[in-house]
Amino acid sequence: MSGLPLAERRLLLILSGSIAAYKALELVRLLRREGAQVKAVLTAGGAHFVTKEALAGLTGQRVHDDLWGAEAEIGHIRLARWPELVVVAPASADLLAKMAHGLADDLAATVLLATRAPVLVAPAMNPAMWEHPATQANMALLAARGVAAVGPGSGPMAEPESGPGRLAEPEEILAAVTAHLAPAEASPRASGATASGASGAAFSGASGATPLAGRRALVTAGPTHEPIDPVRYIANRSSGKQGYAIAAALATLGARVTLVSGPTALPDPAGVATIRIESAREMLAACEAALPADIAVMNAAVADWRVAREADQKLKKEPGAAAPTLTMTLNPDILATLSRHAQRPGLVVGFAAETEKVVEHAVEKRRRKGCDWIVANDVSGGVMGGDANTVHLVTAEGVEDWPELPKEHVAARLAARIAEALA
Ligand code: CTP
Repeated sequence: MSGLPLAERRLLLILSGSIAAYKALELVRLLRREGAQVKAVLTAGGAHFVTKEALAGLTGQRVHDDLWGAEAEIGHIRLARWPELVVVAPASADLLAKMAHGLADDLAATVLLATRAPVLVAPAMNPAMWEHPATQANMALLAARGVAAVGPGSGPMAEPESGPGRLAEPEEILAAVTAHLAPAEASPRASGATASGASGAAFSGASGATPLAGRRALVTAGPTHEPIDPVRYIANRSSGKQGYAIAAALATLGARVTLVSGPTALPDPAGVATIRIESAREMLAACEAALPADIAVMNAAVADWRVAREADQKLKKEPGAAAPTLTMTLNPDILATLSRHAQRPGLVVGFAAETEKVVEHAVEKRRRKGCDWIVANDVSGGVMGGDANTVHLVTAEGVEDWPELPKEHVAARLAARIAEALA
């Protein structure tokens, strides 16, 4: 057997109607490059954007698109039983609604209703359709049943509109697929094992594709804002991207995730309970309220200090008066507090943004804060807020150097490592 990451893994790809469907062709190429066997189902909507012939060429297999044609009869049941993972990319608002409500009026919807394999969806639609309460309710329903999601991202769309709804990049979907399947590969119990403790998951026969089903995870992200007076505050440059990606990656693996976030410009990740706070003290209170948890990943850039006495009224500049002096006081350390908490999560992961002696400081920080792992990154080049990260994972066993990766890949890899550690 080849050593490719997805060698011989059986993936069923369902493409529904979205202008982003062309990206799914690139996804097929990546999946095949990793060794996966890919079968494809094309909906009538999907066929407006990619051809059956292109898909057949890339998958090397016949493409399925008809519930009632010659292949019908029990064809759809056989198709539903075949995959280890079903990937719906792009997942249109319409197909997500059908999935949420159990409709089965075409081949894609029927296979999705008939399959016992885990399902990963990559939504793609116009921002207004994504933000519509009906779509959000459908996503919440699907998440509660254990359907995993990757994306959607935010940004410019085909239409003259910008916002959430962009299909995740093929590499991100590949990372989510790999994160789903990798723990099963690593686990000697994977083949034939039933998912344990998967109370909330819809696929108890799955081979570990939601390895964190039944687990609770707490993630912090973003900066904190420390008030000076009612209109001014002290902040930092954290975008929250890495922490949001981690929350989404843990949810993709089946965990019930609470994200405690400082102020960011990011939308709440799908399927994640997001609590917005401002200051370090509010973040600590929200984290303690979210316990008990099995996993804590403290990614927030918490302000070390706050202004000792916040002014009740806006500070005024009096003519001729000296500039005010701000006296600072230490904030609580949330990571250290949770690491020594009576309800300490089983696995506590901290981050360390360093500008020099990155690993050395991270090793010392792990010991000082009492956490299990530290993910350390070098921020000396002013990389905070960027889309990629080069990290070192510091554990009791030693240090792993990871290559530079998009933040979504760092998140998927970390989530897979967490799943492995808890297996
Ligand atoms: N952290 C926290 N609460 C704080 C400060 C930091 O929970 N008040 C957490 C961060 O979320 C991160 C880790 O501690 O997971 C390390 O943060 P970092 O800012 O690198 O560490 P500091 O405690 O600020 O250490 P130093 O200033 O010495 O680098």
